[in-house]
Amino acid sequence: MTGTVGADQRPVRGLQPVPGPQPMPVAPESQPVLGPLTAAAIFLVVSVKAGGEPTVRDLLPDVAALARSVGSRVPEGGLTCVAGIGSDVWDRLFGGPRPAELHPFLELAGAKYTAIATPGDLLFHIRARHMDLCFELATQIMDRLSGWVAIDDEVHGFRYFDERDLLGFVDGTENPGGRAAVAAVLVGEDDPAFASGSYVIVQKYLHDIRAWGTLPDEEQERVIGRTKLSNIELPDGVKPANSHVALNTITGADGAQRQIVRFNMAFGSAGRGEFGTYFIGYSATPSVTEQMLMNMFIGNPPDNYDRILDYSTAVSGGLFFAPPAGFLANLPDPPAHGMAGARGEARARQAASQDQADGVATATPSAGGSLRIGGLKGKANHAS
Ligand code: HEM
Repeated sequence: MTGTVGADQRPVRGLQPVPGPQPMPVAPESQPVLGPLTAAAIFLVVSVKAGGEPTVRDLLPDVAALARSVGSRVPEGGLTCVAGIGSDVWDRLFGGPRPAELHPFLELAGAKYTAIATPGDLLFHIRARHMDLCFELATQIMDRLSGWVAIDDEVHGFRYFDERDLLGFVDGTENPGGRAAVAAVLVGEDDPAFASGSYVIVQKYLHDIRAWGTLPDEEQERVIGRTKLSNIELPDGVKPANSHVALNTITGADGAQRQIVRFNMAFGSAGRGEFGTYFIGYSATPSVTEQMLMNMFIGNPPDNYDRILDYSTAVSGGLFFAPPAGFLANLPDPPAHGMAGARGEARARQAASQDQADGVATATPSAGGSLRIGGLKGKANHAS
């Protein structure tokens, strides 16, 4: 008899079955974090009032279905929504483990400019080809939350010519794509309970468009680090060390580039003379975006800050975690210890974040309880 396994798959004594092809491990499904830059987006940031937790828990599992219901009315509209959850509200909503790196936005105070932290428990990042779809979904979401949240910010973003920001430069070119984008953005198996989730940092910037307009194009190019019309990166010898691109091209200890995926949008009000960029960056670990913010606001080396800040002021800052789709569909139980305990835990975690931040810069709690990193405070946050 030869050493084979019978057709009926009964093992022959002394021989082991030959293993067949193993199924490939399938990563959990993410929320619709990745995708093309869209023509329209709404960024909605809200704080959950005391007692509003059950309402939020009711809504979260329905966000995907709401997006499907609204989106199916214009199938080619590509409507998507990502829900992000902030650090403090996390413990008010859920018992059980937390995403390993979820913490409040770290306020960064450089010698001249500050990346401020502002209130916000939930972020809804709504994208589509048409604003009517975004608006309808935002309305449906707000209808469900009505009375239980305070609106911290609502920005309606639009695509400006050729994917340009309102400074006139093409924005989003160096976003990674394909597998590199997935690796940059989605949490991996090192935090298995939250694999395929994503950390998201948002900042609303207002531009001093008048001052910017006084710069000749060649000087604007030296601020950004790319040519304006043709969107080509300036060569290394020409690109200044304090240009936006130079300070946001960062590498890890292994020499590999550390990347995020950005879906910035232009917004504004002609009547009020408001010209802005809503920055939104997704990453597998918030430390990548935080390193970029350190470079921009503190400077690298210190005081070599990003020249874009001479023309753009950050007026908001928030950090959220966008859990994987399965987490939202099947929420863990609410916390057993109630809200008072959750608040105490959140305070303890904030203190821990501060200790962590102390490792890279001095940090003191600001009046609002957020962190101010850099130790050089009290300076104007406006373009001079
Ligand atoms: C006023 C707000 C901002 C504006 C107008 C802006 C605009 C731009 C533009 C025009 C580019 C070059 C084209 C591109 O690759 O996208 C760029 C690149 C980039 N920006 Fe920003 N940005 C802003 C804020 C930020 C912030 C807050 C971060 C991160 C914390 C950031 C991270 C990056 C990165 C990683 C790149 C690509 C660098 C490279 O690899 O070449 N940006 N940005």
